[in-house]
Amino acid sequence: MAKAFNVSQAMTIKLDGVLPERPEFLPGIRRAPSRGFRLTKAQTEVALKNALRYVPSELHERLAPEFLDELLTYGRIYAYRYRPTGRIYGRPIDEYAGKCLEGKAFQVMIDNNLDFETALYPYELVTYGETGQVCQNWLQYRLLKKYLQELTQNQTLVVESGHPLGLFPSRPNAPRVIITNALMVGMFDNQRDWEIAEQMGVANYGQMTAGGWMYIGPQGIVHGTFNTILTAGRQKLGIAPDGDLSGKLFITSGLGGMSGAQPKAVEISNGVGVIAEVDYSRIKTRLDQGWVGRVSGDLAEVFAWAGEAAGQGKALSVAYHGNIVDLLEYVVANNIHVDLLSDQTSCHVAYDGGYCPQGVTFEERTVLLATDKAKFRGMVDRSLRRHYELIKTLVERGAYFFDYGNAFLKAVFDAGVKEIAKNGVDEKDGFIFPSYVEDIMGPELFDYGYGPFRWVCLSGKPEDLEKTDKAAMECIDPDRRPQDRDNYVWIRDAQKNKLVVGTQARILYQDAEGRTRIALRFNDMVARGEIGPVMLGRDHHDVSGTDSPFRETANIKDGSNVMADMATQCFAGNAARGMSLVALHNGGGVGIGKAINGGFGLVLDGSQRTAATIRSAMMWDVMGGVARRSWARNGNSIATVIEYNKKYAGEGHITLPFLADEELIGRVVAEGLRKRG
Ligand SMILES: NC(=O)c1ccc[n+]([C@@H]2O[C@H](COP(=O)([O-])OP(=O)(O)OC[C@H]3O[C@@H](n4cnc5c(N)ncnc54)[C@H](O)[C@@H]3O)[C@@H](O)[C@H]2O)c1
Repeated sequence: MAKAFNVSQAMTIKLDGVLPERPEFLPGIRRAPSRGFRLTKAQTEVALKNALRYVPSELHERLAPEFLDELLTYGRIYAYRYRPTGRIYGRPIDEYAGKCLEGKAFQVMIDNNLDFETALYPYELVTYGETGQVCQNWLQYRLLKKYLQELTQNQTLVVESGHPLGLFPSRPNAPRVIITNALMVGMFDNQRDWEIAEQMGVANYGQMTAGGWMYIGPQGIVHGTFNTILTAGRQKLGIAPDGDLSGKLFITSGLGGMSGAQPKAVEISNGVGVIAEVDYSRIKTRLDQGWVGRVSGDLAEVFAWAGEAAGQGKALSVAYHGNIVDLLEYVVANNIHVDLLSDQTSCHVAYDGGYCPQGVTFEERTVLLATDKAKFRGMVDRSLRRHYELIKTLVERGAYFFDYGNAFLKAVFDAGVKEIAKNGVDEKDGFIFPSYVEDIMGPELFDYGYGPFRWVCLSGKPEDLEKTDKAAMECIDPDRRPQDRDNYVWIRDAQKNKLVVGTQARILYQDAEGRTRIALRFNDMVARGEIGPVMLGRDHHDVSGTDSPFRETANIKDGSNVMADMATQCFAGNAARGMSLVALHNGGGVGIGKAINGGFGLVLDGSQRTAATIRSAMMWDVMGGVARRSWARNGNSIATVIEYNKKYAGEGHITLPFLADEELIGRVVAEGLRKRG
């Protein structure tokens, strides 16, 4: 039927009719493991037709077998042939073609997400988190680029799971790009149906900033990790409010996309960190960047170094090349004292390669994943159960363990350990160990509105970044709260700590007012020509952007942790207020069906229109979440909202909860239930 239409002539924005040469792939670049092939014959046919939708019919004969081969071999059609040759990286904005600043700016961001330096599996368009993709395949990448080059101030580009649906007329105050990723219909919102949709080429797992085009390399997470371990130390190890982690030992795993921030953060906190990593290529990346101090595969050597540094109160990070379970067995057997304990394997996709089970090397795991998924699954379950037993022993010996938002506790539960659930039955009431958000980030940061604000200097000039760092520092009053002092110190030392990987970007935790102040200041600097244009954004892992009961909303206790209203409202509100890009995803950080998360991008062009957007959108982006947290009766949010209502009287107003007396509730419920019998 379709042959009857002259589709090619009906489009001006499309892929060329010329077949690109197959590009050469460099050896030594990390490659994604096969995701396995599990489609029926009918689904396979649809998957093939779906991929071929992007290319003119005359190329189908040639491409159909090639795409099928990819699907059977890798469990995905990446359309490798369409990857542009050579290095992809976020170039200075002036080097991109486009009809509006935003169109060029988003090309910088997409390319930075695919840079060999920042991306986990750049050839498979995976930025981080094992499966988090910018878009599904290179056909979409090419077409997205073409659309962004054509985009004007009076249009909005709609992107659905990596697919550019088209340009639709809008207005300058509307978002230039609206992205959704993996939003499954409820009854199909599960791993199995998701996997089929992804293989058929209709769903993209965007993680958080991968599919929201706002990833800035591991720096994006260093500040949060630094805040988390430092606050954990102060809360649980009796360290003074202005003290650091000197002499304390932190054991964890993972040197990947986000987890790779751990050694850097532990060194900035002046502590000692030992981080297990099975994949040597990731250790090498962090070594080359200077983000990890030493490496060894010999546990005796690892702990000799760690003990010596801790004894002298010196900062040190050591990568152990091996499995975290082996490392913990050694720690337990040798009675080594651990202060802080966590894990950052990609347990949100434990059975898809995110968690390497004990007993196989990283390379063996890759083969097993492709050849015998059932066996792999069994090994993962056994390993997780052993992992849990070791953690339990170390906690009994005084270590403070926290889940690092990687769905580790959930994975242990899924592996059959029911006792890890607080109610011993299901996950609804959480787990016996805290998650870092529940105990640390939630109450101490998110509830006030502090979250991972970030920016990219689109000119690509280091001097622009230096100027923005300085300006941001001037916007912070270090004496207001301890959090402000930590943030002030962070930005003061940011250049010294050499955090940039990829584009000239910076992360800085700030609350609603801080983000607004800094954004207005930067916009003003752009207007004066002191710096080039700037992209503002944030991680989805923030105050308002994410509803995720085991992570971002783990400290919501009014029963609404099963709802996704906050993230959805955040997204809609940001669109209404004219952020340049808005994104809404399913499953960011924890896996499909377990979260709804979103983010934004705002291009600072120095205009008054942008200043107006900053004033309304930046406050909304944070205060929407603080308002919800306050409604859930979180004390620090209630205090923040009371201040807001006073300060912004006449401009905005937030509903506050009347707090019921605990004793009254206990008495009334007990009596009522007794009478009911
Ligand atoms: N850092 C944060 O602030 C943060 C916040 C929220 C969630 N997370 C979660 O942390 C997890 C890690 O994120 P990432 O981007 O680093 O993922 P990643 O997949 O890039 O890195 C995980 C690393 O763990 C290694 N690994 C797997 N199993 C191992 C084992 N048994 N022993 C030792 N090493 C092993 C892998 O080789 C990989 O390098 C994700 O689930 C993510 O959602 C991190």
